[in-house]
Amino acid sequence: MIMVMRMRKVVRILLVVLMNVMMMVVNVANSHDYGEALTKSLLFFEGQRSGRLPPSQRITWRKDSALLDGYDLHADLVGGYYDAGDNVKFHFPMAYTTTMLAWGVLEFGEFMGSDLQHAREAIRWATDYFLKATSIPGVVYAQVGDPYGDHNCWERPEDMDTPRTTYAVTENKPGSEVSAEIAAALAASSMVFYGFDRRYSQLLLRRASRVFLFADKFRGSYNDGLGPAVCPFYCSGNGYQDELIWAAAWLHKATKATYYWNYVTRNIHSVDSVFAEFGWDAKHAGISILLSKFVLDSSLFRPNADKFVCSVLPESPTKSVTYSPGGLLFKQGGSNMQHATALSFLLIVYSRYLHGHGNISIVHCDNFAVEPSRLIQVAKGQVDYILGNNPSGMSYMVGYGNKFPRYIHHRGSSLPSIDQHPEHINCDEGRSYFASNQPNPNLLIGAIVGGPDINDSYNDSRADFTHSEPTTYINAPVVGILAYFKSVMGKVEIG
Ligand SMILES: *[C@@H]1O[C@H](CO)[C@@H](O)[C@H](O)[C@H]1NC(C)=O
Ligand SMILES: *[C@@H]1O[C@H](CO)[C@@H](O)[C@H](O)[C@H]1NC(C)=O
Repeated sequence: MIMVMRMRKVVRILLVVLMNVMMMVVNVANSHDYGEALTKSLLFFEGQRSGRLPPSQRITWRKDSALLDGYDLHADLVGGYYDAGDNVKFHFPMAYTTTMLAWGVLEFGEFMGSDLQHAREAIRWATDYFLKATSIPGVVYAQVGDPYGDHNCWERPEDMDTPRTTYAVTENKPGSEVSAEIAAALAASSMVFYGFDRRYSQLLLRRASRVFLFADKFRGSYNDGLGPAVCPFYCSGNGYQDELIWAAAWLHKATKATYYWNYVTRNIHSVDSVFAEFGWDAKHAGISILLSKFVLDSSLFRPNADKFVCSVLPESPTKSVTYSPGGLLFKQGGSNMQHATALSFLLIVYSRYLHGHGNISIVHCDNFAVEPSRLIQVAKGQVDYILGNNPSGMSYMVGYGNKFPRYIHHRGSSLPSIDQHPEHINCDEGRSYFASNQPNPNLLIGAIVGGPDINDSYNDSRADFTHSEPTTYINAPVVGILAYFKSVMGKVEIG
């Protein structure tokens, strides 16, 4: 009897050892080259550049484009980024993209190695542009490019002959969400350049505070003033209060001025009931997590930061997201990968803020106690899914791994390059390339697409834009995430 029990115990121990060995094998087999993915995630931004490209441009199939942007309003609005697979410059998501790139550098820049320089360049490409877009006091340029004209054509940015209409918000036609998000982007970026280019940093910060005052003093949504130019494309769905508080939070972080702190605490109640949202439109969870760092042990932001975590973790009783059978996080709204990257970013940042604070570092989801390391584990699951650990065995980052999207919904990527085909391709001629069953001729390296459906399947079809289109705001949070995993992998076992 005793012998049998011994034997059972030995077998059980052997099994555990065997399983651990197998898990290690799996971990090695599934481990990713986060450094390579980081480099590529930044290359993508070079592919999205508008304006006059510098000699250092590394995605060389792209050329100068939109060199007269702003001309209709006698302004210089050359530069900035195309938001996605089209050629419109939507400043609202562009500003959020910039804020997230800057936040990524502030949290994880020390892990970026030689890519830190490229991350700064990616940010500066936007901030140089936002300085132009806010150069006149009382005016914020909010968008360039008529979205209907643009979306009806399949043209390379270099060939564009669609209306490059410039849209502005002003005192009489305010747009507090776009203005405040630009202020947030400038304030966050000012810290990125602080130890590197002090004069530029100060310029960004001064502009951030001026634009914030404008956004706050002349309140209104750009949905009203700009109407069909911005809706339904980047319609502000939940008002501008969150952007005003978000901008004040970044200005507080950059200046330490009590004015901004008081602004946040005076107004936070107006957005306090929303805790689970974060993306180009909703800043709520970002505000809670950004500010929790300053007052981790107070009841000011911590409860909402914890509620956010509990809305995401798969095992949480108060979860409000869903997961595909393969483990990808899903939320309402197209371009799902934006949620997976933005929410993962917040989980990692929050985990690091919590780490090392003893008992108060535990997050409670009802009766569940969650260690900070669990947040990292969930985020890693999302990144690994994106890079190929999924039922389709597919990387959703172009140019990473062997199997990745070949038919992304992206004009520049799908049309022949200027080098290959210097002749103009007009609005209608582009359609045959759109409909072609040939893969895209130009690799938009590093682009992460909208991703698979809730059942983990992916069609890889240009026409299926909610799944096959890359966007700057899918990629922006991933830059910091990849830098983090590049640094920790191999140092600690985080499962
Ligand atoms: C996913 O699979 C379920 C069950 O087979 C099915 O009912 C649902 O329509 C599928 N969803 C999509 C988006 O394909
Ligand atoms: C793929 O295409 C099929 C048929 O057109 C469609 O039913 C399905 O929803 C698509 N799946 C994805 C992931 O887009």
